[in-house]
Amino acid sequence: MRKETRKAVIAGNWKMNMTPSQAKTLIEELKPLVAGKNGCEVIVCVPFVDLTTAVEAVKGSDIKVGAQNVHFADKGAYTGEISAAMLKEVGAEYVVIGHSERRQYFGETDVTVNQRVTAAVRAGLKPILCVGELLEQRDQGITAEIVSLQTKIALSGITAEEMKQIIIAYEPVWAIGTGRTATAEQAEEVCAVIRDVLKGLYGEEIAEAVTVQYGGSMKPGNAAELLAKTNVDGGLIGGASLVAKDFAAIVDAAN
Ligand code: PGA
Repeated sequence: MRKETRKAVIAGNWKMNMTPSQAKTLIEELKPLVAGKNGCEVIVCVPFVDLTTAVEAVKGSDIKVGAQNVHFADKGAYTGEISAAMLKEVGAEYVVIGHSERRQYFGETDVTVNQRVTAAVRAGLKPILCVGELLEQRDQGITAEIVSLQTKIALSGITAEEMKQIIIAYEPVWAIGTGRTATAEQAEEVCAVIRDVLKGLYGEEIAEAVTVQYGGSMKPGNAAELLAKTNVDGGLIGGASLVAKDFAAIVDAAN
């Protein structure tokens, strides 16, 4: 499968922004701007409490809704957590898993990321699995090793059939929210490493079909160059996803 036949996916990661009423306003602004842009899938990954509002607000459009995390247990004594079944029932289709902010501030490890990915796919959610190196790891020249390891551990036990539901987002930690974007060449290099890992795990056909996104300060001004790369099939957008016209401009770039 070639890049042209893979599904391009532009996903907004709102992080801890937007109350439900603000979410409704932003989605309503976004809808006409992305209408008919069918060259890519458009997703908004919103805070848990915005999900119901977002699912209602996207009706009549092709915008899909995702959550930003999911717990690995079906249910039980996990105060403050949200299960995959809960997300499914409110209409979330996607879920971001293993974002570097979860790893950095909330103690998530490759092992818990794997547990969450497993719970999500088995419940029928589509994970957006985030991997990426720290600046010191890039400086040490171990980016490929780190990202390969994160990918392999996160996908441990995931079958080839399940892999078809998973998107991988390469997000160099040093590029997130810093305004410092990876160059298109750097993004391409690591996205290709990820695809190679997938080839080793699942074979050529599945690896070529998986959507691999880049994330980290993607914005209207740099999206087209990043998205033109052979192994970069979309973007996970933080800051720029909070401004309808900026997010729509990135969707345009993907089209
Ligand atoms: P950013 O965030 O676009 O604000 O850098 C990307 C992300 O964290 O997914």
